[in-house]
Amino acid sequence: MRKLKIGIIGCGAISPMHAVPVGLYKNAELAAVCDIKKDRADRAAARYGARAYGDYIEMLEKERPDAVHVCLPHYLHTVVSKDALLRGVNVLCEKPMSIALKDAEANVKLAEEKKLLYGIIFQCRYNTASQFVKRNLDNGRLGKVISARSVLTWNKPDSYYAASDWKGTWEKEGGGVIIDQAIHSIDLVNWFIGDEPVSIAANLSNRNHPKAEVEDTGEGLIKYKNGAVYGFYAMNTYGCDEPIEIRLYCEKGKAVLSYEAAQITFNDGKTESVVQDMSDAADYGAGAKDYWGFQHIKQIHNFYDCLLNGKRPDIDGEEALKVQRIAEGIYGGAAGPIRRR
Ligand SMILES: NC(=O)c1ccc[n+]([C@@H]2O[C@H](COP(=O)([O-])OP(=O)(O)OC[C@H]3O[C@@H](n4cnc5c(N)ncnc54)[C@H](O)[C@@H]3O)[C@@H](O)[C@H]2O)c1
Repeated sequence: MRKLKIGIIGCGAISPMHAVPVGLYKNAELAAVCDIKKDRADRAAARYGARAYGDYIEMLEKERPDAVHVCLPHYLHTVVSKDALLRGVNVLCEKPMSIALKDAEANVKLAEEKKLLYGIIFQCRYNTASQFVKRNLDNGRLGKVISARSVLTWNKPDSYYAASDWKGTWEKEGGGVIIDQAIHSIDLVNWFIGDEPVSIAANLSNRNHPKAEVEDTGEGLIKYKNGAVYGFYAMNTYGCDEPIEIRLYCEKGKAVLSYEAAQITFNDGKTESVVQDMSDAADYGAGAKDYWGFQHIKQIHNFYDCLLNGKRPDIDGEEALKVQRIAEGIYGGAAGPIRRR
């Protein structure tokens, strides 16, 4: 089988979670990496045995890769993905898909027209706990979700925003705790419920980050066509990163997901549980993400399998639009002291 030629655009914090899985896929090679901060591209190129670029258009045109991974600040996601799609290159982009729904929708259409794959990273769907709960919903053992809730209390101190030239701004991050951190848990619950949202009421505020423009606290309620209701709460001004907790109250039982574990209690009192085998995490090197959600490798390899076999990836543009529409609903209609500019 031929080897896929891969490029990575953006060599910042998340890039090892993309670069290492390329090397661990038999039929792929990391040909090129790009960062506008050329020293970062040079370092990544030396580490992974790739060619370094400072300009992604030059990289796309000289290398003509089969696919690029977009690991950039949020405001560049749809711009750079579009530039790649227009040049016939398949795209796997980090979350969030976009900071504006219309740009995300336009890219989905473009990818369809060009017959290219457009995938968006939501790696937490591959956690053992998430897969276990989803399986028990799909096979009917839990019945339909009646109510759901998610709670995220993480720690993003002032230094986190001070260290970044894009986080904390409406223009470049496109939001705060909701679009950056809680998007994973909102995506998971929406995927579990598997129905169409009909109303979103939300409240956003910035309570403890005077140097950031965006919200550090968000809560709301999403109602679904089938009657399910989902309440979420997220804040990133807690003292540490506590495990995200998701609870589902279903027709035939309850599910609780927390960090690497999930437990289901069926209505007859029987319980079943799973715990993630953390030893299946690849070695991503110092400073790489080791907290909730290290399953990039599974999603990346699914994307490559689909590229080689002419299939649609698990989380393609259409699938990712579902949570993107929710994000738009939250930011577009939120009450509270803070508004998207
Ligand atoms: N899936 C997850 O769990 C997860 C975790 C962390 C970050 N992320 C996402 O990954 C993306 C990147 O986040 P990060 O933490 O790595 O950010 P970062 O700031 O550490 O890295 C971004 C990199 O992009 C480079 N860049 C900016 N403009 C560029 C351009 N025009 N051309 C080439 N390079 C350019 C910057 O120089 C920087 O090195 C974001 O979308 C973020 O939300 C996802």
